[in-house]
Order: sequence, then structure tokens, then C-alpha cells
Amino acid sequence: MKSELLKALQDADGFLSGQELSERFGVSRTAVWKVIAQLKAEGYEIESVTRRGYRLTGAPEDSYTEHGLLSARDTAWIGKNLIFFSETDSTNTQVKRLAEEGMPHGTLVIADAQTGGRGRRGRSFTSEKNVGIYMTALLRPEIQPANASRLTLLSALAVRRGIFEATGLETTIKWPNDIIASGKKVCGILTEMGTEEDRVSYVAIGIGINVSNSVFPEELEKLATSIFLETGEKPGRTAIVWAVWSAFEELYEKFLPTQDLSRVMDEYNSLLINRGREVEILSEESPCRGVARGINENGELLVETEDGIRKVRYGEVSVRGVYGYL
Ligand code: BTN
Repeated sequence: MKSELLKALQDADGFLSGQELSERFGVSRTAVWKVIAQLKAEGYEIESVTRRGYRLTGAPEDSYTEHGLLSARDTAWIGKNLIFFSETDSTNTQVKRLAEEGMPHGTLVIADAQTGGRGRRGRSFTSEKNVGIYMTALLRPEIQPANASRLTLLSALAVRRGIFEATGLETTIKWPNDIIASGKKVCGILTEMGTEEDRVSYVAIGIGINVSNSVFPEELEKLATSIFLETGEKPGRTAIVWAVWSAFEELYEKFLPTQDLSRVMDEYNSLLINRGREVEILSEESPCRGVARGINENGELLVETEDGIRKVRYGEVSVRGVYGYL
């Protein structure tokens, strides 16, 4: 009820009486008063005047709490079921566990800090409190397991759109799913899948965005940036969270009928930083070099090599110049 009450206060044009609120939520006036006290403890400024009721006069600077997030939610289905941790090991690990326990499609796990944030290829992901967005959505798509990796590219587009909408920062994409600003990484995405008898049981889409970091550990300095470092502004994380997932919902609608990227491929390719640049495919079986030409509808990177066009499915691409090193 806390987030509904907060929403009622936010939507109200002036005071809302305790009586009105208790009737609306079917609880006693004392229960309303207790929830108001909890909201005040979370940093909301609420004026209470005898016989007039309650009026919201201020919100915490960055309303990054479960209730703040829920009351600002404007998505259709992602995050309706929201689980918020002030600290956890990894939101991807949490989602995998919750998926095994039967949590529904659209569940969103958000943490203010991660102690064991995971990146691709077994790397770790720096996840300090207050400065970043660490979140994972649980999807149960009715798609072929072979098509699930395409959701990773779809997520990259959603993040790119969401960051732009909420902060105005223009970013590009490094295939398959790094979001780049000034040649450095501003967001990483880790998609993991669970299967059962050859069908997709769940897909965990984990997104880590550097929002207001002003410094990075020395080993990351040349590779990582944040929205603050790029724009000089420290944007609220709540607005970015929902802008990303609203964009994801829109893109997901386009993806589902075909289960491929044909309807979003042009947008993706227009943002692809690798396009027209020399890339090195770091695959163990057959490493090679060539010029990236863009993705196809399967999300594969088309690389023009001496032996013709090669479709790159897996394996990391290292790009001359993109991160300032080969
Ligand atoms: C990468 O760039 O290698 C991927 C980084 C993904 C980090 C996010 S943060 C939220 C979610 N939880 C994790 O443990 N990892 C992802």
C-alpha cells in the first residue's frame, strides 16, 4: 500500500484527508498515519495539517527506493513485480534463483549495490552504492533457445534509447551489447538463459549502467565512463530505469512475431560503432580480422574478411580505436 499511497499524494492537487485515504485503501486512519511516517523516514517531505490532511511537498533527491521506483513506474508489465535490495551479491544471480522458484515473467530485481556483480566471460562488474543502476529482468519468452541471444542486442537498443530519453546523452553500441560514450563503456549487459527440455524456461537480462561515478578504479579508467562524466549532470536513476524498460517493452513487441531483429536492425546498425571499422574476432577456433559491415536479422555481425563475408555469432570482437586500444 505504501507505493499506492505515495502515488495518490503525488497525483493529488493539494491536501488529501486521512479519512479519504483510509476509505480509498480500506485501512484505518492510524494505518494511513503509520505509512506516512514510514515515507517521511525514507526522506519524503509530507505536510500534515489538522482537518485538511496530508500534502507531499518534497521527495528524496534520488527516490531510489522500492516505493519511489514503484510509484514512478510507467511500464506496461516489466517491474510490476519489483524486488529491491539495498545490497545483494548479483541481481542476475537473484533472478536465476527466483526463476527456479517460479517468479513470473516481467519480475524486475534492482539493487543499489552489488557485492559480486558479474560481467561477461567471467569478469566482475564494479557495482558501488549510489552511483549506478544494477538491475535484471526475468523474462519467460515463448521462443526457441537458439533465438534468445537476440534479446541481448534488443536490450542494448533499449538501454541506448532509455539513456537518451532520460538524460539526452547520445551513445553508440559496440557489438553485441556494450553501450559506448566517448570511446568508453557506460553500460554492460549480461544475458543468461535457463532451459528445460529444449525450451526456454527463463531469460535473465542484467543491465549495469554507470550513472554518477566520478572516478573508476585505475584499471578501468581508460575503459569506463559514466553519464555524469559525459554530461556534467547527475541524473536521477529512477527515470533512467523506467525509460530503459519502456523502450525494451516497445522493442520486444517488434521482436516477438518474428523472433528475429529484422524490424529493429536498421536502428541497431545506425548506432553500431564497429560499422566500417576493422575488427578482430577473438575466437579460439578461427580468429580473424576484417571490416565490420553491420548485423543481420539474426544478430550476427557480418565481417568482410579476405575470404569473403563471415557471420560472427559468438566470440568477442576487439575494435581498433573504440576503447583506445586494440
Ligand atoms: C559486461 O559488460 O560484461 C556485462 C556487465 C553486466 C552487469 C550487470 S549489473 C546488473 C546485473 N547483475 C550482474 O551481476 N551483472 C549484470
